[in-house]
Amino acid sequence: MAMAIIKIQKLPCYVLLVFVLCFAFAPLALSWRLNEGFDHDENYEGSSDFVDLEYHMGPVLAAPINLYIIWYGHWNPSHQATIRDFLYSLSSSSVSYPSVADWWKTVRLYTDQTGANITGSIALSGEFYDSRYSHGGYLSRLDMQSIIKNAVTSSPRALPLNAHNGVYLVLTSSDVQVQDFCRAVCGFHYFTFPTIVGATVPYAWVGYSGTQCPGMCAYPFAWPQYSGKPPPSTNGGNNIMKAPNGDAGADGMVSVIAHELAEVSSNPLVNAWYAGDDPTAPQEIADLCLGVYGSGGGGGYVGNVYKDPWGNAYNVNGVKGRRFLVQWVWDPVKRRCFGPNAKD
Ligand SMILES: *[C@@H]1O[C@H](CO)[C@@H](O)[C@H](O)[C@H]1NC(C)=O
Repeated sequence: MAMAIIKIQKLPCYVLLVFVLCFAFAPLALSWRLNEGFDHDENYEGSSDFVDLEYHMGPVLAAPINLYIIWYGHWNPSHQATIRDFLYSLSSSSVSYPSVADWWKTVRLYTDQTGANITGSIALSGEFYDSRYSHGGYLSRLDMQSIIKNAVTSSPRALPLNAHNGVYLVLTSSDVQVQDFCRAVCGFHYFTFPTIVGATVPYAWVGYSGTQCPGMCAYPFAWPQYSGKPPPSTNGGNNIMKAPNGDAGADGMVSVIAHELAEVSSNPLVNAWYAGDDPTAPQEIADLCLGVYGSGGGGGYVGNVYKDPWGNAYNVNGVKGRRFLVQWVWDPVKRRCFGPNAKD
């Protein structure tokens, strides 16, 4: 089912949770087909019969990553702080379990053909403010590369063009429309072309969805409009979630960013770790666990997560006492989706 949706994608991306949500909210006939044809809600978590994740001999991001953010458009400083703190948390060893860094340990289980694991070191090494909307308010996928080009060439405060171990994260603000955003994708990752940017560097784009489509891309902090009210809770009472850092859009972005970073690290040139036969429509390590945030998750249920004293949902701890709700990724050793908040 996810495959069918993903087939329409041209680039690795965070595919909408539509497939989860439609099936969770659709008329009975559809739900019934889900259960019949995809009777592995547990599969996300518990079995691997349907997953053909394979290594295709390309590199993974084994060297310590220098991450560069390009803030495109007009950003709310408190949303930026949430996102920065999430990125700082990825390689912070001083946060109590289960931490964001513990979550990243599952990503580190992926290796390349030399046996080198994905790095555990991710440094936020630079930020660029494209607050003048250098490429306008409606962006194509390809425009992301020109935005990176602009960020590494503009004066006086250009980002370095780091072809050795740089990863570029283009984040677009609430008022920016992006091709396929809110229709087919919440984010995607790819690599730049030397003809456009001057080097091949992995990058990811994630949009702020709090205004345009929170029900799609800030799941599970918001629900699709067409679904009406969230469904009655059947298993655990946490089908609707309150955002741990106070903003559904920013907290939703955190999980999409996590998703893209996991995938860009395990499949940076789109020739390393993915499932499916078609390299133009790969199903990558986070795609396999869309919508799963805790034990028992899958099929429209986020799984077993924590609640803070204010009732906000989270599953990992971060720096400065922050908490985040981050989707799980496929564990190649356990052969199921996994995160540090797992009950087993
Ligand atoms: C590297 O990957 C291998 C294979 O998944 C795993 O056994 C090992 O624990 C990983 N090392 C680290 C540091 O994550």
